[in-house]
Amino acid sequence: MKLIDINTAAPYRVVLGEDLAGSCGTLIQLHAGLSENAKTAVIVTDDNVGPLYAGTVEEALTEEGFRVLVYTVPHGEASKNLTTYGKLLGFLADNEVTRTDFIAALGGGMVGDLAGFAAATYLRGIRYIQIPTSLLAAVDSSVGGKTAVDLPNGKNLAGAFYQPSLVICSPDMLRTLPEEEFTAGCAEVIKYGVLGDEQLFAHLERFAGDFDREYVISRCIEMKRDIVVQDEHDLGGRQVLNLGHTLGHAAEQLSNYSLSHGMAVSVGMAAVAEAAASAGICSGECAGRIRNVLKRFGLPVSCEYSMDDLYEVMCRDKKRKGNMISLVIPKRIGACEIRKMSLQEMKSFLESAS
Ligand SMILES: NC(=O)c1ccc[n+]([C@@H]2O[C@H](COP(=O)([O-])OP(=O)(O)OC[C@H]3O[C@@H](n4cnc5c(N)ncnc54)[C@H](O)[C@@H]3O)[C@@H](O)[C@H]2O)c1
Ligand SMILES: [Zn+2]
Repeated sequence: MKLIDINTAAPYRVVLGEDLAGSCGTLIQLHAGLSENAKTAVIVTDDNVGPLYAGTVEEALTEEGFRVLVYTVPHGEASKNLTTYGKLLGFLADNEVTRTDFIAALGGGMVGDLAGFAAATYLRGIRYIQIPTSLLAAVDSSVGGKTAVDLPNGKNLAGAFYQPSLVICSPDMLRTLPEEEFTAGCAEVIKYGVLGDEQLFAHLERFAGDFDREYVISRCIEMKRDIVVQDEHDLGGRQVLNLGHTLGHAAEQLSNYSLSHGMAVSVGMAAVAEAAASAGICSGECAGRIRNVLKRFGLPVSCEYSMDDLYEVMCRDKKRKGNMISLVIPKRIGACEIRKMSLQEMKSFLESAS
């Protein structure tokens, strides 16, 4: 079992290890800093994950003397909306959940974002614990305190920065994750290797999908920790996490989300690496390694959309400020740089890829 401390303004701990679901009651008592008045635990989960793991988590929490309530939402991004969020708040209020009680978000990034936002806002904030069950949630969304729901106008438009009190990550739970979800999460894992850890990248090249889960997940969490503690509120430093995401988001949108986030990020990473090689920012060998490792994981390295179409979507991006964009560009495996450029410059840069 490994402990990783995240020293944000409100610090918290990640406990990482196999078969932790059955001990989550004890782990929460030990590490979550709960008030002694904490009486109720609300497990928020979805209808795929709940039947697999909620029973074990419920039992573990009951053994610690908590009153345990389970709130299950339909799986999928469509549940991350204001209606579900409102119903969840209503459920908490109906059950007289108090400020010293807590939520356990048991699921992938969808559940984590939704439950985290409910925890951030119910009674102006109650504690929540992340129990990530998808690879993406383990290496990305469960750490960093970004919580949100989607609006009809766009993804993650209503949310809060609100750190969990504890993250319990038990990689054995990934065994039941559908293969395409696992592969999509691998795109983010590869991203961490390119960003900041050549050794991690080499491990992924060597083992592909059979990588050592505890080692890989812990390295990703440590890297995310280092980035997040420098830039808790996403004012600059967190931008490096957007490697592959600028073009990726555009491809995701153009496909009407039939291309998953992970697949889209993979396409974006391959494109930016090739453009970097053409511009002499990284070597051709570096771009080749990135492309090959993505392919080895069964991830796409190109998409059917033209640069003109992708560009048009990027120009419409509501979250972008003005005409400038910060593009994360690999310099070598394990190091990237951020270049500020106009959208037009970015288009020319990406088109220059041979
Ligand atoms: N907060 C952040 O910093 C952050 C970062 C990245 C992504 N996100 C958000 O995360 C969400 C995507 O997360 P995701 O990819 O985990 O999606 P998800 O939560 O929708 O999970 C993907 C699918 O896998 C299923 N699943 C999850 N764990 C399982 C398991 N162990 N066994 C069987 N099935 C399982 C889910 O039911 C779902 O059908 C998006 O809403 C995105 O906006 C947030
Ligand atoms: Zn991502």
